[in-house]
Amino acid sequence: MQKTEMLYEGKAKKVYATENPELYIVSYKDDATAFNGLKKGTIAGKGVINNRVTNYLMKMLEENGVPTHFVEEISDSETVVKKVSIVPLEVIIRNISAGSFSKRYGVEEGIVFEQPTIEFSYKNDDLGDPLLNEYHALALKLATREEIDTIKAMAFKVNALMKEFFLKINVELVDFKLEFGRLSDGTIVLADEISPDTCRFWDSRTHEKLDKDRFRRDLGNVEGAYQEMMRRILGE
Ligand code: TMP
Repeated sequence: MQKTEMLYEGKAKKVYATENPELYIVSYKDDATAFNGLKKGTIAGKGVINNRVTNYLMKMLEENGVPTHFVEEISDSETVVKKVSIVPLEVIIRNISAGSFSKRYGVEEGIVFEQPTIEFSYKNDDLGDPLLNEYHALALKLATREEIDTIKAMAFKVNALMKEFFLKINVELVDFKLEFGRLSDGTIVLADEISPDTCRFWDSRTHEKLDKDRFRRDLGNVEGAYQEMMRRILGE
């Protein structure tokens, strides 16, 4: 599979067209941003880690009945995926209070919820990805009622499967962000990435942060945390 023209460059990935109109190639970068691009940096080795971790998790989810855009890993930092149009919603599932939840509601980090929460943001960098509810998403025609119902059911299924997976490698899955896409026939599939950039991972025993919060909050040893997560997830 060969890349043809670059279609899109985001903060952490580039997307290329291929000779096959139904397939794209995603290329992961070491660039890191936070706070809607205000904080910039690089995390050495992140592109490779996020590519390999995402693909491992996407395969695990596919095997458990979650449709995804994953097709084939073609190099350490590049993957062939199905062509989708991204639903402009960031879907956030939380199992434990942290981050913007703690800030918004004035609660400490680390409160374990009895059941997971779900929230949506409008994926729009110019507006800073504002939080919205399902009625806002419908009013803005970001997705249909049927699509939102499918996305919610898939997101909770992903959470259940991932929670179980991470428990076995001594990681608490605190929260994470998912994106979904529409195939040309309209089918909704899980897209984008699942990585230390898009999830909060805490070591079950020490509660050490093993994700992008080390970069966002200048906690040090960012590369070490990403490597540790790849080692545990891939079982290397
Ligand atoms: P938050 O607590 O800052 O809302 O983040 C919730 C989860 O979503 C966390 O695991 C990090 C992830 N996330 C992204 O993947 N992209 C983003 O732009 C933001 C703000 C959060």
